[in-house]
Amino acid sequence: MSFPQVRPRRLRTSAPMRRLVAETRIHPAQLVLPMFVKEGLTEPRPIASMPGVVQHSRDSLRKAVVEAVQAGVGGLMLFGVPTSKDEVGSGGCDPDGILNVALRDVIAEVGDATVVMSDLCLDEFTSHGHCGVLAPDGSVDNDATLAVYGDMAVAQARAGAHMLGTSGMMDGQVGAVRTALDNEGFQDVSILAYTAKYASTFFGPFRQAVESSLQGDRMTYQQDGANGREAIRETLLDLAEGADIVMVKPALPYLDVISDVRAAVDVPVAAYQISGEYSMIEVAAANGLIDRERAILETLTSIRRAGADIVLTYWAVEAAGLVSRR
Ligand code: PBG
Repeated sequence: MSFPQVRPRRLRTSAPMRRLVAETRIHPAQLVLPMFVKEGLTEPRPIASMPGVVQHSRDSLRKAVVEAVQAGVGGLMLFGVPTSKDEVGSGGCDPDGILNVALRDVIAEVGDATVVMSDLCLDEFTSHGHCGVLAPDGSVDNDATLAVYGDMAVAQARAGAHMLGTSGMMDGQVGAVRTALDNEGFQDVSILAYTAKYASTFFGPFRQAVESSLQGDRMTYQQDGANGREAIRETLLDLAEGADIVMVKPALPYLDVISDVRAAVDVPVAAYQISGEYSMIEVAAANGLIDRERAILETLTSIRRAGADIVLTYWAVEAAGLVSRR
C-alpha cells in the first residue's frame, strides 16, 4: 500500500491554517453600500422584494451613512426615488430633486470620510422608466440622453458627489459626462463606469426598490448575456472616454466577464452584486435552505476571486463586520 506523499489537506486542517493560506481576502474598504432614499418619507420603509433593505427618509439616510462609515465601508452609492416623474426625468437635474438633496445631506454628514457616489441614470426619474429620453417613435434616444446626463452630472457634482456611476448604457455616456464635468471645473470628480451591464432578469427586485414604471425591458441598450468579448470592447471605449473605474454587473452570473476585464486593463475593476443576487440568498436562507452568512461570504469571495477589486453589495455593512472578525 502506498500513501500519498503530497497532501493538500494538511493546509485545511484548522480554521487558523485555512485563514493563513487564503488566497482571496475581503477588506471592508473594498465594499460599497448602495442606498435608496425616497422623497417625502418620514420613516424608512421596507422594500418587500429585498428583505432587510429599506427606502430611507432623509433623516434615516443620515444615520445609516454614519453607521456605514463606522463599519469602514469603502463607499456609498445613492439612488433617489422621486414622488413625481416626467417624460425627460427632470428630477435628476433639479438641484432640489431628491437625489441631489440627499447627496448634500450625506456630504454634510460624512464629508470626506468615505467615497460618496451617485447613480447617474434617468430611470428613477422618467414616467416611462427607461434610462434615457425617448424619440418620437418611442425608442430610447441615445444622443438626446447624453445631453441630459451631462446636466445631471453637473448637478450631482455641485451637490458634492465624489464619484458618478454612469449606469444608463448609452453609447458615449462616459465621454459626455467627463466633458460636462470638466467644462464646469469638476476635473476631480471621478467616474465609475457601468461598463459591462447586462440586460438581466436579476434586476427584478430593484424595480420595486425604486418604484420603476418600466414596461418592457432594456434589451436595446444593456448588453446581451450571450456576449463576453463585447465587454472588452465596452471597457476600452469607456477608458478612452475617461472612465476611472470600470464595472461589471450583475456579478455572480458574469464572473467570467469580471475575470476577462480584470486581465485586459489596469484600472480598478468593480462588480455589482445586484438586487436579485441579494434577494435569492435572503429568501433561500429565510426558508432554511442555505446558511445566510456563509452564502454572503462565499459569493463575495467568488466575486473577489474572479478579479473584482471593489464590490457593490447590499450586505456591505454586515459583511464588513463579518470579515473584520475573521
Ligand atoms: C439604473 C440601475 C439599475 C440598477 C442599478 N442602476 C436598474 C436597471 O438597470 O434596470 C440595478 C441594481 C440592482 O438590481 O441591484 N439606474
